[in-house]
Amino acid sequence: MKAIECLKYGGEENLVLSNVKKPTPKDDEVLIKICATSVTTSDVLIRRMKEPLIPRFILQLIFGFGGPRNPILGMVTAGIVESIGKDVSMFEIEDEVFAYGSISTTKHRFGSYAEYICLPEDWNIALKPANLSFEEAAAIPYGGLLASHLLKKTRINKGDKVLIYGASGSIGTMAIQLAKHMGANVTSVCSSRNFELVTSLGSNKMIDYTLENAEKQLETYKYVIDAVGNSKTSKLKKNSKKALTPNGKYISIDDGIPLTPKEAFFNLKSLAEQGKITPVVDSIYPLDKMVEAHKYVEMGHKKGNVVITI
Ligand SMILES: NC(=O)c1ccc[n+]([C@@H]2O[C@H](COP(=O)([O-])OP(=O)(O)OC[C@H]3O[C@@H](n4cnc5c(N)ncnc54)[C@H](OP(=O)(O)O)[C@@H]3O)[C@@H](O)[C@H]2O)c1
Repeated sequence: MKAIECLKYGGEENLVLSNVKKPTPKDDEVLIKICATSVTTSDVLIRRMKEPLIPRFILQLIFGFGGPRNPILGMVTAGIVESIGKDVSMFEIEDEVFAYGSISTTKHRFGSYAEYICLPEDWNIALKPANLSFEEAAAIPYGGLLASHLLKKTRINKGDKVLIYGASGSIGTMAIQLAKHMGANVTSVCSSRNFELVTSLGSNKMIDYTLENAEKQLETYKYVIDAVGNSKTSKLKKNSKKALTPNGKYISIDDGIPLTPKEAFFNLKSLAEQGKITPVVDSIYPLDKMVEAHKYVEMGHKKGNVVITI
């Protein structure tokens, strides 16, 4: 089968189109013919492996020293079940599914930058919402699960003010929609070129972090949700840490290791089916344009998600 392999860490030129052996499902696994995947910020971070020494050591312990243990990156899958192991009971051949290749800190599997992947049936796999295309379905798991992880740390009541920093990215666009679903009054922080997008997702107010004196627009929030983490900051972000109610909480995507449990995955599926969350697709690239897709994601200004069709 065709796959994009990353044989060593470094620049995007290390991503090469290869022919590799098609995987065979174990007894408890499904073989999925992949129709779409996505390039996430985490894929880029792992491919580059340029983090400071201690986080880099931990990442290499998980993903491999010198190069990725599984050279095929990619954790998001949307596709069609082609065959199943003898013990599989939850899926049938020809089921249209979407999946995330991680269910806990110890159970994760790369391999979606390819024509096929095998995943255990009891991981984060579900029937694809019928109202979504494969490309749209591939834009749900990463941002959706990470935003769910952030929102799980809140107790939002109707009308609570929530500031979402990095609102137009894959995590931010899902965080807006999940916070609105919980009843929040959402202020989104992003550049003004993305105001229309975040308004369409339900944002009540917007602040452009690139503007001089943007911090003067801050109000008081029960929660400040930092959806982009420590690598991206601004004067506004520093000031937002002080713009909290007395019992308010600052929650960052970089606080600890995000959990991606099945309940959250199935909740996202259900919300998508009801039209309560809408995946945001910035752009779609074919598999053989993976280098360009990585370059674009690395720039750090995508709107929602970058999807790959296979
Ligand atoms: N700690 C962990 O375990 C963990 C796990 C997964 C992800 N993460 C982190 O989560 C982040 C992934 O987020 P993502 O995929 O949603 O990112 P993304 O899709 O690349 O989105 C980035 C968004 O942030 C905005 N932005 C860029 N620079 C900014 C700045 N200086 N201040 C405010 N906003 C800025 C951009 O908006 P404009 O285009 O409007 O500027 C863009 O829409 C990454 O930074 C990653 O390291 C951490």
